[in-house]
Amino acid sequence: MKINKICCIGAGYVGGPTMAVIAKKNPNLRVTIVDINEERIAAWNDSDVSKLPIYEPGLAEIVEETRGKNLFFSTEIDKAIDESEMIFISVNTPTKTYGKGKGMAADLKYVELCARNIAKVATTNKIVVEKSTLPVRTAQAIKSILSNTGSDVNFDILSNPEFLAEGTAVEDLLSPDRVLIGGDSEEAIESLANIYGSWVPQDRILRTNVWSSELSKLTANAFLAQRVSSINAISELCEHTEANVDEVAKAIGMDSRIGSKFLQASIGFGGSCFQKDILNLVYIARSYGLNEVADYWEQVIILNDHQKRRFSDHLIKTLYNTVSGKKIAMLGWAFKKDTNDTRESAAIYVADHLLNEQAEIAVYDPKVLESKIQSDLNYLNTRSPEENKQLLVSKDSPYEALDDAHAVAIMTEWDEFKSYDWKKIYKQMKKPAFIFDGRNILDKAEMNKIGFEYYSIGK
Ligand code: NAD
Ligand code: UGA
Repeated sequence: MKINKICCIGAGYVGGPTMAVIAKKNPNLRVTIVDINEERIAAWNDSDVSKLPIYEPGLAEIVEETRGKNLFFSTEIDKAIDESEMIFISVNTPTKTYGKGKGMAADLKYVELCARNIAKVATTNKIVVEKSTLPVRTAQAIKSILSNTGSDVNFDILSNPEFLAEGTAVEDLLSPDRVLIGGDSEEAIESLANIYGSWVPQDRILRTNVWSSELSKLTANAFLAQRVSSINAISELCEHTEANVDEVAKAIGMDSRIGSKFLQASIGFGGSCFQKDILNLVYIARSYGLNEVADYWEQVIILNDHQKRRFSDHLIKTLYNTVSGKKIAMLGWAFKKDTNDTRESAAIYVADHLLNEQAEIAVYDPKVLESKIQSDLNYLNTRSPEENKQLLVSKDSPYEALDDAHAVAIMTEWDEFKSYDWKKIYKQMKKPAFIFDGRNILDKAEMNKIGFEYYSIGK
């Protein structure tokens, strides 16, 4: 089937960059991204590309090149569905906050709404592509909704999970390690493979059955997160034994069977997906009665929570067992560098813990807006929004955030933090001046020479 028009439901961190790259690489394909969030669509259409709702290196340039030519952002969802031969579902699939599976299972209500919308609107045959990360066997539910419309429209369902990481999304999309397509209709699979084939070598386009594809996505995230928890577990042991976690990571990473990536000890992983996808995997395993499997993966999350908690506990203990009334500067709020995404960022939980101990916090992040920082804290419901606003302020300059601070906590590994004038910062801070480097980005010897008391992870 030759595809001329596609649409993507969900203009988020996945839908936006993925479709922008597909449009760039397929100039003859008309790509429409739709969303119910009018504000988000307006931001995608903003003539000033620095105001796009998502910050990703290289993305603004691609949007500028394709928008209005073969890439369109719209809130007219029904129209886009009706016109397209292929429809990607790229909506959010957060952890359920209510009912059965609360706190564990993926909430599929947005995906189901999309399927129902497609079923309602479609008058011609469609290929429906699951781009969202979904529990294994979700395609069955989508199929069931789409095949009970009473019309004779045919729907082929494909699973095409996305593996991009934020901060490197454009790079990851332009040269993916692999593209995964799961399905049972060879014709539908090849239609999608052709779109990717305009820039991805065929041997990197994997075709599997739909269940393997769905499960591979959860498994990939679980394996990646497991590596972070593994090195973080070792970081705690390093702190008790005078081993250095960076040296250990290098030594084990040079074993080609282990590999060097994803061995950076940190304050704990964040992001919208690792925790949610592992919780979902644990939930699925338990629902099949596979308790040992569930317990095994759950430990990855337990260790990650422990890592965040022990960072703030250590900070408090080092500041003479109290941070009450003390100013703590936080550098970074995003869950990793080069993104404005803060979902599940370790900074949120560390800040909340320090605020419980009556600290005063000043945050500086190069890309995260103050309103986002406040709403992240308010979402935890620990204290009133007014209290949060009083106790935690966001600054436009790092030097302002650091002025007169008792300690600085580095929460995100933004490159610019490394090149700050740390001598000037030392002079501005209260003495003794403490650095708690949750990302191991500064040099201990250099910081000690300036006069700082410097603590990092796993050293
Ligand atoms: P997101 O929250 O940034 O975007 C989802 C968008 O879908 C939102 O703008 C929302 O308004 C829209 N939406 C929800 N219901 C809708 C409906 N019924 N009709 C129209 N629009 C609707 O989420 P995201 O980060 O892009 O993630 C999307 C999916 O991709 C998730 O399943 C996630 O697990 C997966 N994923 C995310 C990443 C990542 O890096 N963020 C990477 C790989 C996979
Ligand atoms: C992750 C996966 O890497 C993507 O392949 C996947 O598509 C995506 O989840 C998803 O499904 O959402 P992302 O969360 O954007 O991507 O970013 P990562 O680079 O994986 O980082 C996740 C977290 O782990 C960050 O907080 C990061 O700082 C932390 N991390 C990562 C470490 O602490 N140490 C490391 O060595 C690597």
